[in-house]
Amino acid sequence: MVQLRLAKISIAFGVHPLLHEADFQLDKGERVGLIGRNGEGKSTFLKILSGQQPPDSGEVWRQPGLRLAFLEQTPDLPANATIYEAVAGALGEIGERLSRYHHLLAEGWKPRRHGRAGTGAAMAGRPRRLEPATTWMRC
Ligand SMILES: Nc1ncnc2c1ncn2[C@@H]1O[C@H](COP(=O)(O)OP(=O)(O)OP(=O)(O)O)[C@@H](O)[C@H]1O
Ligand SMILES: [Mg+2]
Repeated sequence: MVQLRLAKISIAFGVHPLLHEADFQLDKGERVGLIGRNGEGKSTFLKILSGQQPPDSGEVWRQPGLRLAFLEQTPDLPANATIYEAVAGALGEIGERLSRYHHLLAEGWKPRRHGRAGTGAAMAGRPRRLEPATTWMRC
């Protein structure tokens, strides 16, 4: 199923065209790597995909309800935050809970695998629900 489609996209800053009537389609489950020399327009292309940059001409179509996440090439990260906190910070409330849970684990708190959640669980939110997420967050 098509998730994203660009049709005849053109964009230029000044006289040098970055994209000229370019077509692109991304289907569900597809993974795409974008390779190009410095300044060729990779970031501009991604910004057009995400809607941050309108093209000069052409059509952008996104599957209704599609969720897009975009990591800036030069991210404005919060001062004094760890990488874990910076990444979790993009996840809203669930990210805050993940960070608190992560801190508790770092301090030696051990989640109970069975039975009712105790004080630590109350502080961290709902760790049993968060455990799978912390697994992929771990570096
Ligand atoms: N908002 C803008 N206004 C004017 N020029 C821009 C703007 N955004 C990008 N450019 C120019 O367009 C060209 C492509 O920029 P872009 O950042 O898309 O390239 P890139 O392939 O991502 O480069 P890099 O490999 O350095 O990340 C560059 O020459 C850049 O200076
Ligand atoms: Mg770039």
